[in-house]
Amino acid sequence: MELFQADACNLKPLYTGHDLVLAANLVDRLYRPRAFLESIHERIRPGGLLVLTSPYTWREEHTRREEWIGGFRRDGENLTTREGLRETLGRHFTPAAGPRDLPFVIRETRRKHQHTISEMTVWERRGD
Ligand SMILES: C[S@@+](CC[C@H](N)C(=O)[O-])C[C@H]1O[C@@H](n2cnc3c(N)ncnc32)[C@H](O)[C@@H]1O
Repeated sequence: MELFQADACNLKPLYTGHDLVLAANLVDRLYRPRAFLESIHERIRPGGLLVLTSPYTWREEHTRREEWIGGFRRDGENLTTREGLRETLGRHFTPAAGPRDLPFVIRETRRKHQHTISEMTVWERRGD
């Protein structure tokens, strides 16, 4: 097994031809989530899968508001992150599974825990 560490917003061509890419609780922490989502198809073979999980907690401390995929109003309507993902990924991916809730708990102290509900979606890379 090989392990590499890299900037998901600026991946080098080294990372290509994968059967599956898992981005677990990542997209809403990226400084350029659009760069990641609009280029990740280059890393996955046709028929391969992109698995995203995220609680969609967009914060300006991590991501400039112009980069948010959803969680804001556009043309007077709420744009959810799930809708934004479908728009952003739709050119190269077809929804394959989900959405599905994935709850998890982070223990902050003995008396305080953070309960988060992440959402999983699975996207299949089209061959076109
Ligand atoms: C909320 S944590 C999730 C960690 C783990 N994947 C999980 O599900 O428990 C977000 C992770 O994204 C990483 N991260 C933030 N910006 C990144 C970037 N540009 N490229 C790669 N990883 C990044 C952070 O270092 C952090 O480990």
